[in-house]
Amino acid sequence: MKILITGATSGIGKQLAMDYVAAGHRVIGCGRNQQALAELASMGIESLGFDAGDYEQVLASLGNLEDLDLAILNAGTCEYVNHPRQFDGKMLERVMQTNVIGVGYCLEALLPRMERGSRVALMGSIASALPLPRAEAYGASKAAIEYLAKTLALDLRPHGIGVSLIRPGFVRTPLTDKNDFAMPMRVEVSEASRIIRRELAKGVEEIHFPKGFTRLLKLLGSLPDRAWQQIALKGLKR
Ligand SMILES: NC(=O)c1ccc[n+]([C@@H]2O[C@H](COP(=O)([O-])OP(=O)(O)OC[C@H]3O[C@@H](n4cnc5c(N)ncnc54)[C@H](OP(=O)(O)O)[C@@H]3O)[C@@H](O)[C@H]2O)c1
Repeated sequence: MKILITGATSGIGKQLAMDYVAAGHRVIGCGRNQQALAELASMGIESLGFDAGDYEQVLASLGNLEDLDLAILNAGTCEYVNHPRQFDGKMLERVMQTNVIGVGYCLEALLPRMERGSRVALMGSIASALPLPRAEAYGASKAAIEYLAKTLALDLRPHGIGVSLIRPGFVRTPLTDKNDFAMPMRVEVSEASRIIRRELAKGVEEIHFPKGFTRLLKLLGSLPDRAWQQIALKGLKR
Protein backbone atom coordinates (compact mmCIF):
# COMPACT_ATOMS: atom_id res chain seq x y z
CA MET A 1 0.00 0.00 0.00
CA LYS A 2 0.99 3.63 -0.45
CA ILE A 3 0.22 5.39 2.83
CA LEU A 4 0.36 9.06 3.81
CA ILE A 5 0.55 9.96 7.51
CA THR A 6 0.46 13.51 8.83
CA GLY A 7 2.02 14.10 12.23
CA ALA A 8 4.51 11.31 11.54
CA THR A 9 7.44 13.00 13.31
CA SER A 10 6.29 12.05 16.82
CA GLY A 11 4.00 9.89 18.93
CA ILE A 12 1.24 7.83 17.33
CA GLY A 13 1.96 8.97 13.77
CA LYS A 14 5.66 8.13 14.02
CA GLN A 15 4.92 4.65 15.40
CA LEU A 16 2.38 4.02 12.63
CA ALA A 17 4.89 5.16 9.99
CA MET A 18 7.63 2.88 11.38
CA ASP A 19 5.29 -0.11 11.68
CA TYR A 20 3.83 0.28 8.19
CA VAL A 21 7.26 0.65 6.60
CA ALA A 22 8.51 -2.41 8.54
CA ALA A 23 5.57 -4.34 7.09
CA GLY A 24 6.73 -3.47 3.56
CA HIS A 25 4.43 -0.57 2.73
CA ARG A 26 5.48 2.66 1.04
CA VAL A 27 5.02 5.43 3.62
CA ILE A 28 5.04 9.20 3.24
CA GLY A 29 5.43 10.82 6.65
CA CYS A 30 4.67 14.50 7.25
CA GLY A 31 5.49 17.05 9.92
CA ARG A 32 7.37 20.32 10.49
CA ASN A 33 10.35 19.25 12.59
CA GLN A 34 13.22 18.98 10.08
CA GLN A 35 15.42 16.83 12.30
CA ALA A 36 12.59 14.37 12.92
CA LEU A 37 11.79 14.33 9.18
CA ALA A 38 15.44 13.46 8.45
CA GLU A 39 15.20 10.63 10.99
CA LEU A 40 12.11 9.30 9.18
CA ALA A 41 14.00 9.43 5.88
CA SER A 42 16.84 7.40 7.42
CA MET A 43 14.27 4.70 8.25
CA GLY A 44 13.03 4.48 4.66
CA ILE A 45 10.00 6.73 5.19
CA GLU A 46 9.60 9.41 2.51
CA SER A 47 9.27 12.72 4.31
CA LEU A 48 7.28 15.84 3.51
CA GLY A 49 7.73 18.99 5.58
CA PHE A 50 4.85 21.43 5.88
CA ASP A 51 2.65 23.19 8.41
CA ALA A 52 -0.77 21.49 8.31
CA GLY A 53 -2.40 24.78 9.29
CA ASP A 54 -0.99 26.65 6.28
CA TYR A 55 -3.21 26.41 3.19
CA GLU A 56 -0.53 27.17 0.58
CA GLN A 57 1.99 24.78 2.16
CA VAL A 58 -0.55 21.93 2.31
CA LEU A 59 -1.73 22.37 -1.27
CA ALA A 60 1.85 22.65 -2.56
CA SER A 61 2.97 19.55 -0.60
CA LEU A 62 0.01 17.22 -1.11
CA GLY A 63 -1.72 18.54 -4.21
CA ASN A 64 0.01 16.21 -6.69
CA LEU A 65 0.07 12.93 -4.78
CA GLU A 66 -1.24 9.99 -6.82
CA ASP A 67 -2.32 6.41 -6.03
CA LEU A 68 -2.69 6.76 -2.27
CA ASP A 69 -4.34 3.73 -0.69
CA LEU A 70 -4.58 5.22 2.79
CA ALA A 71 -4.30 8.75 4.20
CA ILE A 72 -4.10 9.03 8.00
CA LEU A 73 -4.71 12.67 8.96
CA ASN A 74 -3.26 12.52 12.43
CA ALA A 75 -1.34 15.80 12.98
CA GLY A 76 -2.68 17.51 16.05
CA THR A 77 -2.00 19.63 19.06
CA CYS A 78 -3.49 19.89 22.53
CA GLU A 79 -3.76 22.92 24.81
CA TYR A 80 -5.91 23.18 27.90
CA VAL A 81 -7.77 26.13 29.40
CA ASN A 82 -6.01 27.31 32.57
CA HIS A 83 -8.11 30.34 33.51
CA PRO A 84 -11.67 29.99 32.18
CA ARG A 85 -12.54 33.64 32.94
CA GLN A 86 -9.53 34.79 30.95
CA PHE A 87 -10.51 32.72 27.95
CA ASP A 88 -7.71 32.67 25.40
CA GLY A 89 -9.35 33.00 22.00
CA LYS A 90 -6.01 32.75 20.23
CA MET A 91 -5.39 29.40 21.90
CA LEU A 92 -8.75 28.17 20.57
CA GLU A 93 -7.72 29.45 17.13
CA ARG A 94 -4.36 27.62 17.29
CA VAL A 95 -5.94 24.31 18.26
CA MET A 96 -8.70 24.60 15.67
CA GLN A 97 -6.26 25.67 12.95
CA THR A 98 -4.15 22.52 13.29
CA ASN A 99 -6.72 19.97 14.42
CA VAL A 100 -9.67 20.94 12.21
CA ILE A 101 -8.88 23.50 9.51
CA GLY A 102 -5.61 21.74 8.66
CA VAL A 103 -7.53 18.50 8.13
CA GLY A 104 -9.81 20.37 5.74
CA TYR A 105 -6.79 21.62 3.78
CA CYS A 106 -5.41 18.07 3.54
CA LEU A 107 -8.78 16.72 2.38
CA GLU A 108 -9.00 19.42 -0.31
CA ALA A 109 -5.53 18.48 -1.56
CA LEU A 110 -5.93 14.69 -1.43
CA LEU A 111 -9.51 13.68 -2.18
CA PRO A 112 -9.64 14.59 -5.90
CA ARG A 113 -6.94 12.03 -6.65
CA MET A 114 -7.99 9.24 -4.28
CA GLU A 115 -9.35 6.20 -6.11
CA ARG A 116 -12.19 3.79 -5.32
CA GLY A 117 -11.05 1.33 -2.65
CA SER A 118 -8.85 3.85 -0.86
CA ARG A 119 -9.42 5.05 2.72
CA VAL A 120 -9.09 8.27 4.72
CA ALA A 121 -8.65 8.09 8.50
CA LEU A 122 -9.20 11.15 10.69
CA MET A 123 -7.63 11.33 14.14
CA GLY A 124 -10.32 12.24 16.65
CA SER A 125 -10.32 11.47 20.35
CA ILE A 126 -12.62 9.85 22.88
CA ALA A 127 -12.56 13.33 24.49
CA SER A 128 -15.42 14.23 22.15
CA ALA A 129 -17.69 11.68 23.87
CA LEU A 130 -18.34 13.99 26.81
CA PRO A 131 -17.37 17.45 28.13
CA LEU A 132 -14.13 17.21 30.10
CA PRO A 133 -12.83 19.97 32.39
CA ARG A 134 -10.31 22.38 30.74
CA ALA A 135 -10.76 20.69 27.36
CA GLU A 136 -12.90 23.40 25.80
CA ALA A 137 -10.60 23.91 22.81
CA TYR A 138 -9.19 20.41 22.35
CA GLY A 139 -12.57 18.72 22.91
CA ALA A 140 -14.32 21.12 20.53
CA SER A 141 -11.71 20.40 17.85
CA LYS A 142 -12.16 16.65 18.22
CA ALA A 143 -15.98 16.98 18.27
CA ALA A 144 -15.62 18.79 14.94
CA ILE A 145 -13.44 15.96 13.61
CA GLU A 146 -16.01 13.39 14.75
CA TYR A 147 -18.79 15.15 12.83
CA LEU A 148 -16.53 15.72 9.81
CA ALA A 149 -15.51 12.05 9.65
CA LYS A 150 -19.05 10.72 10.07
CA THR A 151 -20.41 13.08 7.40
CA LEU A 152 -17.57 12.31 4.99
CA ALA A 153 -18.20 8.58 5.50
CA LEU A 154 -21.73 9.09 4.18
CA ASP A 155 -20.79 11.34 1.28
CA LEU A 156 -17.75 9.37 0.11
CA ARG A 157 -19.40 5.94 0.24
CA PRO A 158 -20.91 6.25 -3.27
CA HIS A 159 -17.40 7.17 -4.50
CA GLY A 160 -15.94 3.97 -3.02
CA ILE A 161 -13.67 5.82 -0.57
CA GLY A 162 -13.81 4.56 3.01
CA VAL A 163 -13.58 6.87 6.02
CA SER A 164 -12.46 5.88 9.51
CA LEU A 165 -12.62 7.92 12.68
CA ILE A 166 -9.90 7.04 15.22
CA ARG A 167 -10.79 7.84 18.84
CA PRO A 168 -8.03 6.89 21.25
CA GLY A 169 -8.20 7.20 25.00
CA PHE A 170 -4.83 8.13 26.54
CA VAL A 171 -1.69 7.03 24.67
CA ARG A 172 1.82 7.61 26.05
CA THR A 173 3.36 10.22 23.69
CA PRO A 174 5.06 13.63 24.07
CA LEU A 175 1.56 15.13 23.86
CA THR A 176 0.30 13.35 26.99
CA ASP A 177 3.66 13.42 28.79
CA LYS A 178 2.92 17.13 29.39
CA ASN A 179 -0.36 16.40 31.22
CA ASP A 180 -0.51 17.17 34.95
CA PHE A 181 -3.53 14.95 35.72
CA ALA A 182 -4.24 11.23 36.07
CA MET A 183 -4.59 9.39 32.76
CA PRO A 184 -6.45 6.13 33.46
CA MET A 185 -5.66 3.13 31.28
CA ARG A 186 -3.01 5.00 29.23
CA VAL A 187 -1.64 2.62 26.58
CA GLU A 188 1.79 2.47 24.97
CA VAL A 189 2.17 3.89 21.49
CA SER A 190 3.11 0.46 20.07
CA GLU A 191 -0.24 -0.91 21.28
CA ALA A 192 -2.09 2.09 19.80
CA SER A 193 -0.39 1.50 16.45
CA ARG A 194 -1.18 -2.22 16.53
CA ILE A 195 -4.88 -1.62 17.14
CA ILE A 196 -5.18 1.21 14.61
CA ARG A 197 -3.46 -0.79 11.85
CA ARG A 198 -5.53 -3.91 12.58
CA GLU A 199 -8.83 -2.02 12.54
CA LEU A 200 -7.97 0.07 9.46
CA ALA A 201 -7.14 -3.15 7.60
CA LYS A 202 -10.65 -4.39 8.45
CA GLY A 203 -12.22 -1.11 7.25
CA VAL A 204 -13.67 -0.30 10.67
CA GLU A 205 -15.36 3.12 10.61
CA GLU A 206 -14.98 3.99 14.28
CA ILE A 207 -11.79 2.78 15.95
CA HIS A 208 -11.70 3.35 19.71
CA PHE A 209 -9.41 1.99 22.39
CA PRO A 210 -8.68 0.90 25.05
CA LYS A 211 -12.23 -0.42 25.06
CA GLY A 212 -12.63 -0.52 28.87
CA PHE A 213 -11.97 3.22 29.01
CA THR A 214 -13.64 4.36 25.79
CA ARG A 215 -16.86 2.41 26.47
CA LEU A 216 -17.04 3.96 29.95
CA LEU A 217 -16.64 7.48 28.54
CA LYS A 218 -19.26 6.80 25.88
CA LEU A 219 -21.64 5.54 28.59
CA LEU A 220 -21.03 8.62 30.75
CA GLY A 221 -21.54 10.79 27.68
CA SER A 222 -24.97 9.24 27.14
CA LEU A 223 -26.15 10.23 30.66
CA PRO A 224 -28.31 13.33 31.10
CA ASP A 225 -26.02 16.40 31.22
CA ARG A 226 -26.80 17.05 34.90
CA ALA A 227 -25.74 13.57 35.98
CA TRP A 228 -22.39 13.85 34.20
CA GLN A 229 -21.84 17.42 35.46
CA GLN A 230 -22.23 16.26 39.07
CA ILE A 231 -19.67 13.51 38.57
CA ALA A 232 -17.23 15.89 36.84
CA LEU A 233 -17.61 18.64 39.44
CA LYS A 234 -17.07 16.17 42.30
CA GLY A 235 -13.89 15.00 40.55
CA LEU A 236 -12.69 18.61 40.26
CA LYS A 237 -13.21 19.27 43.98
CA ARG A 238 -11.02 16.31 44.92
N1 LIG B 1 -1.71 10.77 22.80
C1 LIG B 1 -2.99 10.63 23.12
O1 LIG B 1 -3.35 10.21 24.24
C2 LIG B 1 -4.05 10.99 22.12
C3 LIG B 1 -5.37 10.64 22.43
C4 LIG B 1 -6.38 10.95 21.53
C5 LIG B 1 -6.06 11.57 20.33
N2 LIG B 1 -4.76 11.89 20.06
C6 LIG B 1 -4.49 12.57 18.79
O2 LIG B 1 -3.50 11.83 18.08
C7 LIG B 1 -2.77 12.74 17.25
C8 LIG B 1 -1.29 12.54 17.49
O3 LIG B 1 -1.03 12.83 18.84
P1 LIG B 1 0.29 12.36 19.59
O4 LIG B 1 -0.13 12.03 20.97
O5 LIG B 1 1.03 11.37 18.78
O6 LIG B 1 1.07 13.76 19.68
P2 LIG B 1 2.58 14.20 19.41
O7 LIG B 1 3.53 13.15 19.83
O8 LIG B 1 2.68 15.55 20.02
O9 LIG B 1 2.63 14.33 17.81
C9 LIG B 1 1.93 15.33 17.15
C10 LIG B 1 2.30 15.28 15.68
O10 LIG B 1 1.51 16.28 14.99
C11 LIG B 1 2.39 17.09 14.22
N3 LIG B 1 1.88 18.46 14.16
C12 LIG B 1 1.41 19.22 15.17
N4 LIG B 1 1.08 20.44 14.71
C13 LIG B 1 1.35 20.44 13.38
C14 LIG B 1 1.24 21.41 12.35
N5 LIG B 1 0.76 22.65 12.58
N6 LIG B 1 1.61 21.06 11.10
C15 LIG B 1 2.10 19.82 10.84
N7 LIG B 1 2.22 18.87 11.76
C16 LIG B 1 1.86 19.17 13.02
C17 LIG B 1 3.73 17.04 14.95
O11 LIG B 1 4.76 17.26 14.02
P3 LIG B 1 5.81 18.51 14.03
O12 LIG B 1 6.06 18.86 15.44
O13 LIG B 1 6.99 17.96 13.27
O14 LIG B 1 5.10 19.56 13.26
C18 LIG B 1 3.75 15.60 15.44
O15 LIG B 1 4.27 14.76 14.43
C19 LIG B 1 -3.27 14.15 17.59
O16 LIG B 1 -4.25 14.53 16.63
C20 LIG B 1 -3.92 13.97 18.95
O17 LIG B 1 -4.92 14.91 19.19
C21 LIG B 1 -3.75 11.62 20.92
